[in-house]
Formats: sequence, C-alpha cells, structure tokens
Amino acid sequence: MDQEQIISETFEKYEQYINPAMAKLFRFMGLAAVEHEASGEYICDTNGKKYIDCLGGYGVFSVGHRHPFVVEAVKKQMDLMPLSSKVLLNKPMADLAAALANITPGDLRYSFFGNSGTEAVEGALKLARVHTGRPNIVSTTNSFHGKTMGALSATGRELFRQPFQPLLSGFTHVPFNDIDALKKAVNELTAAVIVEPIQGEGGIIVPDDGYLPAVREICDKTGALLICDEVQTGMGRTGKMFASEHYQIVPDILCTAKALGGGVMPIGAFTARAAIWEQYITSPFLHTSTFGGNPLACAAALATIEVIRSERLVDRAAESGAYFIAKLNEIAARYPAVIKEVRGKGLMIGIELTREGVGGFLMAELINAGILVAYTLNNPKVIRIEPPLIITREAIDTVVSVLSEAVGQANEIIEDL
Ligand SMILES: Cc1ncc(COP(=O)(O)O)c(C=O)c1O
Repeated sequence: MDQEQIISETFEKYEQYINPAMAKLFRFMGLAAVEHEASGEYICDTNGKKYIDCLGGYGVFSVGHRHPFVVEAVKKQMDLMPLSSKVLLNKPMADLAAALANITPGDLRYSFFGNSGTEAVEGALKLARVHTGRPNIVSTTNSFHGKTMGALSATGRELFRQPFQPLLSGFTHVPFNDIDALKKAVNELTAAVIVEPIQGEGGIIVPDDGYLPAVREICDKTGALLICDEVQTGMGRTGKMFASEHYQIVPDILCTAKALGGGVMPIGAFTARAAIWEQYITSPFLHTSTFGGNPLACAAALATIEVIRSERLVDRAAESGAYFIAKLNEIAARYPAVIKEVRGKGLMIGIELTREGVGGFLMAELINAGILVAYTLNNPKVIRIEPPLIITREAIDTVVSVLSEAVGQANEIIEDL
C-alpha cells in the first residue's frame, strides 16, 4: 500500500472508530506519521523516517525497543506456553517474584502481578486497607497514579477526576513536598500515604532531599503504610534501580510497571513487606487476576532485569542523565526567556518552559528533525525527556543540538512579541 494511503486510512479509522479529537490533535501537533518499526533508541515510521525516541513511551522503553535478549526470552516462552493454566505452578512468575524481592529496596518480599501501572496501584491501595483495617488514603496534588476508579481516586488532578465523581471515599490530597500538610492529614484512620518519589506526569517534580524520609517517619508514627508508586521512576530510570533509594527509604508497598516488561510485554506489580501480606496469606484469592503474572510477561520482565544488570543500565542512566542535564542547563542559561528550569534525576528529565505555547512549537521542531518528545499530562509547560537508558552520547548530542537551535528560534519569536 502507498505510504500516504496508510497515513490517511489510519487517520480516518482514528476519526471513525477511536476518537476524532485524537486524530485532530495528532494533525495539529504535526504528527502525521504512522509508527512502523523500532530498535534500540530509534523508531521508524511507514515513510522510513527515523526518530530518536526521547520519550521512551513515557518510561516504558528503558532497555530500548525490541532488546534482542528480551525478544528472545518472549519468543522462547511463546513457543512453550504464553498464558498460565492457573492450575499448575507458573515458574516464570515464581522466578520473577524472587527477582523482584532481590532488586527492590530493603525487606520488600511478596509480589502480585497485574498488567498495568493502574492495576499495581489498585492492588496496593486494597492491600493497605485490608492490612490496616483503616479507611483513608492520603495522596498528593498534581500526582498521577492511573485512571481506574481506585487509582484515579488517588490521582491528584481535578481535570481527570471531576467528570467521574463520586470517586472512592476516604481519599484526601495534600501538596507534594509539603511535610507540614502531610503531618496534619495523616492520622490513626489513615491506611496509607501514596506518593511518587519524583512526580512524573505532574511535570518531573523532584522533592527536597528530606521529604521522603519525613513521609516515612510520619507513616511510622501513625501506623499508616507508605506506598511508593515507582511505575515511572522504577527499573533504573532515575539512576538508581528504584528512586526510593535516592532518599534511603524503604516503602511498605512498592508499585512498578512500565519498564518492567522490557518494552515488549505489558506487566505491573506491587511488592510488599512480609508482615503486610498476612491477610492475603490467610485468603490467597482475595485479590486475583486472570492474565496477571502470565508466563509471557514474566519472561519479558526476567530478561529485562538481566539486561539492566548486565548492561549496567542503572549506572548508565545516572551518567547519561548528568551529561544530558548539564547540556540542557547550558541551553537554559543562554535562553532564560524560553526555559525556566531543567530538572530531574538520571534520565527522567523535565524542561520547564516560561510559556505554554512554546511547548507546541518546540515539539513540532523536534519531531520535524526526527526527535520524539512530549508534554507531561498534568503540565503542558513541561517537555519530558525519558529516552531509553541505552541512549548513546552521540544521540544525546544530536538532541541537544536540535533543541538548542529550536530554543534559539523560540527566543527570537518571544523577543518579537
Ligand atoms: C506514577 C504512575 N503511576 C501509575 C501510572 C498508570 O500506569 P498505566 O498507564 O500503565 O495504568 C502511571 C502512568 O503514567 C504513572 O506514571
């Protein structure tokens, strides 16, 4: 089929069968391209145009696209048994649970597997209620924990919450990085505090160093559990295997997803301390999932953990992130009228712009030049950079040089206003 025809037919099907507004948005942002194949840090569209993937599927493609070791593990499992009988023992799931106990901080031990980030959060919230017997959950404003009813009740963005009210009862939100507000909100009725160690969708917000240790202390004092939502920050993204480690804290429950499946399979998990699991040990079928823990996804996750270890991706994220942020800061220093701040840890980087409109211009320029980036969902002033952790210096330098040029142009436009 002719390439133009593929694009127009895909647009038409989006309009007719998915959502016309989405098709319009793609057109508006200059994204008239259909993804076709991907490898490492590159994506190719049906026209053969090659893009550096600087968004990494919002943190999914940490080991790159189609990492051969992950693909091989999935192919092998596919030829054996992709989904579980649910009757016999599932070895890939058992191996993965043991591997997660090994790589997660402190004494986190038992894992439950679902198929997405929001499912990991749902399970963590349920576990907190069933373990503590308490009704309430304290979350943070500007947070993102997913869009199913429970996770959405924790999510701190009215735009996504309001149309679906009433959400679950017992949820309150306090400003992120505000210890006093949290102290006031958490009490003997609080089952858990749920927090992203670094807010992702909220605009890559890095808290003060003392914040998470203080959250841990408040939880310990009141008997509330601490849930760290590491769906986006986990699996090496921030230069530690889990971002909680930057702050030397161990949560009671840790949620992970996105990069866990190596960019090949969807999978999510929550992992908890042994003492918290007791209700599920008494009643192991209280929380279940048909597809969760399927051998195919677990094989992908096991291979992913091995790739992260053997290719030193945690260290590489820290090194490449420091290099990237330093280069971006040089651009920010040259053009303060365009860039307000560059922030992040490892390869979870946000560029905060001085005005909303500039984001669309920069995105269009970058995409034109073959670099994929995006806004954060909660904050259109922030361009997010979350490339595969395997990204080369050469690719980073290309991104920096294209961005520098585009920011220079944006600067001229702003000066002319
Ligand atoms: C921190 C965090 N938690 C939960 C989720 C929800 O994950 P999913 O979209 O896989 O349901 C996301 C997704 O962006 C996330 O960033």
